[in-house]
Amino acid sequence: MSKIEHIASYPRKPQVLFGIEQGEILTRPKPFLKWAGGKDRLFHQLQQCLPTELDQVQNYYEPFLGSGAVFFNLVQDFSFRNITLSDINEELILVYKVIQNNVGELMQIIDQYKNRYSKLSNIDKEKFYYEMRNSYNIQRFNINHRKYSDIWIPRAAQMIFLNKTCYNGLYRQNMRGEFNVPFGKNYNPVIYNQTNMELIAKLLNDVEIKTTDFESILNAVKDNSFIYLDPPYRPITKTANFTDYYKLGFTEKDNERLMESLNILNKRKIKFMLNNSFPLNDNYLAEYYTDYKVSVITANRMMSSISDRRCKVSEVVVTNY
Ligand SMILES: C[S@@+](CC[C@H](N)C(=O)[O-])C[C@H]1O[C@@H](n2cnc3c(N)ncnc32)[C@H](O)[C@@H]1O
Repeated sequence: MSKIEHIASYPRKPQVLFGIEQGEILTRPKPFLKWAGGKDRLFHQLQQCLPTELDQVQNYYEPFLGSGAVFFNLVQDFSFRNITLSDINEELILVYKVIQNNVGELMQIIDQYKNRYSKLSNIDKEKFYYEMRNSYNIQRFNINHRKYSDIWIPRAAQMIFLNKTCYNGLYRQNMRGEFNVPFGKNYNPVIYNQTNMELIAKLLNDVEIKTTDFESILNAVKDNSFIYLDPPYRPITKTANFTDYYKLGFTEKDNERLMESLNILNKRKIKFMLNNSFPLNDNYLAEYYTDYKVSVITANRMMSSISDRRCKVSEVVVTNY
């Protein structure tokens, strides 16, 4: 490995609710979902690892989109001609597409949920949450994820509502594809910010958004591109696993496929930046990323396998420039 660099972390902002403070006036869009491994608070550290000539790059790809924190930050400072955002989670991509196409109707439906929820007692709020979760799971059989239609709009509204009221903003499905995260005891959540949603809808106007595995995206990358990759992290404890995001998990085989695709892109001189966990139990950096530069950053992460505590953990940023 050529070099390991430590990037300084900055003091955290005070009391932020899902990235947006109550009543905050926004001029720059922010992630509208809370997502496991979301990078909004880490962006200032990641920024220091970006390639210097990013303003010359025409195409931007983000194939592990999640809440899109890096995309939202980057598009404000760089004017990429083509942007491709993707994720394997079809329910997540459904929400992005609804914001792109029907943001007004989406906000109206969320407002109805919000108004009903805000008038309930705490016990009834919990009931409301489980009823919505149940309806969201039953509805999945009526959705054709390959064909945009009006019934996507209430589904996206439910997904955003559940995301802001479930435990810790997790999106977890069981093997049957049911969303199974418990109530988060969020009795007064900020479900969305109208200005933010409208800014995001504008931003997504000319963006290509796809539900797909990362490999098909990486195989089709054009010249003069930059790719930001944030795959599900390798487990950092023996009990942690890859399955926090998606019912099928992210396996060792997936990591190998990823490394192979990146090596091909590297030969084509296409620049990429990848995040992953700091290796504690294995030596994957030496195995997979010997030829690349590795920087270490620090993050506050929820260690669900240990307790509800947030801990400071090291993470790595791998770049090929
Ligand atoms: C660490 S999260 C990304 C977080 C994102 N950077 C953010 O700021 O919110 C990893 C994402 O990879 C997605 N994912 C998992 N397996 C995938 C695959 N094989 N292809 C594409 N995306 C995948 C998950 O659905 C999840 O949204």
